[in-house]
Amino acid sequence: MPEHSKKLLEAFEKFLQANLPQIESFHPHYGQALCDMFKAGGKRFRPLLLLEVVYAYEPLMLPAANHIAAAIEMLHTYSLIHDDLPTFDNADLRRGEPTLHVRYDQVTATLVGDALNSHSFFMIANAPLGSDQKVALVKELALNGGAGGMVLGQAIDCYFENQKLSIDELTFLHINKTAKLIAASLKMGAIIANLPQETQELLYQIGLDIGLLFQIQDDIIDATMSPEEAGKPTQNDGAKNSFTNLLGIEGAKSQKVKIIDEIETKLYDLEDTLRENLHNLIEYYLK
Ligand code: IPE
Ligand code: IPE
Ligand code: MG
Ligand code: MG
Ligand code: MG
Repeated sequence: MPEHSKKLLEAFEKFLQANLPQIESFHPHYGQALCDMFKAGGKRFRPLLLLEVVYAYEPLMLPAANHIAAAIEMLHTYSLIHDDLPTFDNADLRRGEPTLHVRYDQVTATLVGDALNSHSFFMIANAPLGSDQKVALVKELALNGGAGGMVLGQAIDCYFENQKLSIDELTFLHINKTAKLIAASLKMGAIIANLPQETQELLYQIGLDIGLLFQIQDDIIDATMSPEEAGKPTQNDGAKNSFTNLLGIEGAKSQKVKIIDEIETKLYDLEDTLRENLHNLIEYYLK
């Protein structure tokens, strides 16, 4: 990973840890449970996408951008906490740690997810940015991380367990479940940097491709890695419409190569620094 990306991640991590929700009460573990999954680690892929856009075009905005990157990471983390619940994927390990419903109970895990969802919008409202920008950011996160985005994807993912979808339906599922939030991360960086509408849209489209690639990779991780390597249970997608179940591991790998080619072509329409930096992130996280 390039030096400047490491620095972006370091500054982000410091900001995130200092800005976790701090809720005091006589509840024995609620306040701690809100923070546990951020202390456990995670790749911070979505925050870094946003920060790379701001770094390339408007580096003076990076401190403000950390608020928005944290908002996205909080919404993402809520989605993982709910995804691991017994009624969803029933997973006992996340980011190398016991999941919240295992460490505490299902009520705590459900409520921590709910709390992080709303806290992510509080983070945006509270960021040192103009009101118009903040409204645009709220809209983007809600559209892509909510009812017609990640939540829709999760609904389809869970409803159609053990029912084979067509390849178009599979793509629709993963665009919603994973790709839209990743695309929104790039677009929200573009909103912070005040880039023209056209560039925002281009970044969103590239983000959808990166998101699909990310989910294919995630499905390959489930099929090929150990829980220790992955930090979460693997061989857990048996009933799912995963890329590996529909295309086979080799098929999923060739699909990856195809999407990487498509992304590299689209990257040519971007300014040099950002093209180079996104290219490097794909090499580091997704090759
Ligand atoms: C896992 O996301 C869920 C998917 C959308 C594939 P990540 O792979 O980004 O999980 P963390 O944040 O690194 O734990
Ligand atoms: C979950 O996808 C994506 C979310 C929106 C949370 P997965 O169920 O494949 O994620 P992992 O493999 O548990 O991280
Ligand atoms: Mg799932
Ligand atoms: Mg899961
Ligand atoms: Mg998975």
